[in-house]
Amino acid sequence: GPERSRAGQAARVALHYLNYRQGSPSALRALGQVRKATLKAIPGIGHKYYLQFTTEDYKSSNTFYEHRSDVGTCLATVLYLKRKPRPAVNINCTYTKDQKQTREDDYSFYKKMRQQTKSIIGNEIPDNDGNIEPDLEPVWALAVAGSSYIMWEKSTENLGYFMAQVKNVKQWITKDDSTDFDYTVILHEIPTQEMISCHLRVIWIPGHPLKVKYFCLSENQSSESGEGSGIESGSTTGIFNEKEANF
Ligand SMILES: *[C@@H]1O[C@H](CO)[C@@H](O)[C@H](O)[C@H]1NC(C)=O
Ligand SMILES: *[C@@H]1O[C@H](CO)[C@@H](O)[C@H](O)[C@H]1NC(C)=O
Repeated sequence: GPERSRAGQAARVALHYLNYRQGSPSALRALGQVRKATLKAIPGIGHKYYLQFTTEDYKSSNTFYEHRSDVGTCLATVLYLKRKPRPAVNINCTYTKDQKQTREDDYSFYKKMRQQTKSIIGNEIPDNDGNIEPDLEPVWALAVAGSSYIMWEKSTENLGYFMAQVKNVKQWITKDDSTDFDYTVILHEIPTQEMISCHLRVIWIPGHPLKVKYFCLSENQSSESGEGSGIESGSTTGIFNEKEANF
């Protein structure tokens, strides 16, 4: 029912926050199953969801891969504040994937990007058949991590987002230690089915917070912009004196 889908939506918001905050294109997660959900209305403040859910490897959860793998369970709270954008998120997860491997994957992608003498340029990732060229896969995954910031900021209790496609990407060759990409990404808004086009700049060094700047234009021409540097707190700890609900 509607409560079930709202719990799923809140769990996805928590994962947008996690995927952005971790800033690791190799460790992206998607929602598996919501196991438990409790909603609490806090008068004058907003709605708070207490969630327990499983997660899957983001890449394998896409339809063009056949094997879905459970990569850990999360406990999260998501608070939709009445008078503020950007839900407050607190999330802790177990992680069953080999973390040494994900660090190595991030680093080898980073190293490869740093060695580019010519900018990486790409269009329509995935393509219309849902395929991603293996070389462009980490570039796409970094766009997912950066877009997660936008999706976290824009989400409300009634509106959710998925990244549909990287329309185009261009790498900037930098002199410092960072990797730097300009993307146009298409976000799919549910339940309105609106497609929102965002210009996204992502600056990344493995093991460091992502730097994100964006500007979005929706089909009906409303626009929004913002920026983040991986240090925004999504946490609500300490704001309220309340008993934690049982999971
Ligand atoms: C996550 O862990 C921190 C530190 O142990 C704790 O304060 C917080 O309440 C936990 N959050 C959730 C949603 O369980
Ligand atoms: C754009 O569309 C959304 C949903 O259809 C609506 O809520 C919003 O007010 C519209 N914005 C503008 C500027 O027309």
